[in-house]
Amino acid sequence: MIYIAPSILAADYANLGADVRKVPSADLLHVDIMDGHFVPNLSFGPDVTKAVNGVTDQFLDMHLMIEEPERWFSTYVEAGGDRLVFHVEATRDHVAAARQCRELGVQAGFAIKPGTPIEPYLDSVSEFDQVMVMSVEPGFGGQKFMPEVLRKVMTLRDHIAAECLDTIIGIDGGIGNTTIAQAAEAGVDAFVAGSAVFGADDPAQAVERLRELAQEAASGPGSAS
Ligand code: DX5
Ligand code: ZN
Repeated sequence: MIYIAPSILAADYANLGADVRKVPSADLLHVDIMDGHFVPNLSFGPDVTKAVNGVTDQFLDMHLMIEEPERWFSTYVEAGGDRLVFHVEATRDHVAAARQCRELGVQAGFAIKPGTPIEPYLDSVSEFDQVMVMSVEPGFGGQKFMPEVLRKVMTLRDHIAAECLDTIIGIDGGIGNTTIAQAAEAGVDAFVAGSAVFGADDPAQAVERLRELAQEAASGPGSAS
């Protein structure tokens, strides 16, 4: 299954509710939390998350680009997060952190920066609902897609197939009409798109177009699914 996840980082913050309502056909919303320490930028926190949750029934995927993410898990669950995706680079024990998320009643995901190898984490993928492969350095929207990370996607796809896991593979950064097909061919399930959705004249149509392009590529010859 293909999931299109608009990132509200690229939405109009003065009209956040209106922007969220522009993408009813999105499969989930991607909420980028930045603390100015783990990444050199600040975005928003639990209060904005709560406000977004109040205007939509959509599943909220919380991308926690923060240090010591465990300290904030319960706060983001209370704010309405449905899956907590923390960075492996920000935690000492990512498996314990995943179990903490599940004990709180939400899904667990880990995100991995472009320069971090996936191999040390493969054995623990079964503990996660999602692995989010970053295709830009986390911290800012509107950056250029890094195709070299697709090697990690393929490694994950092979591992997930070999172990018969239901973990989904996400990709985050630089996804748009010209890059989504290569990510889908490599085996991505969930596509985060910020500027490509909220920078478009018609965000709903942008979601549909991305979905079509991903579906076409995923069902094409030589594809993983
Ligand atoms: C970057 C964020 C992304 C960002 C993607 O640190 O994690 O989710 O919103 O934005 P685009 O799609 O514009 O690259
Ligand atoms: Zn993100």
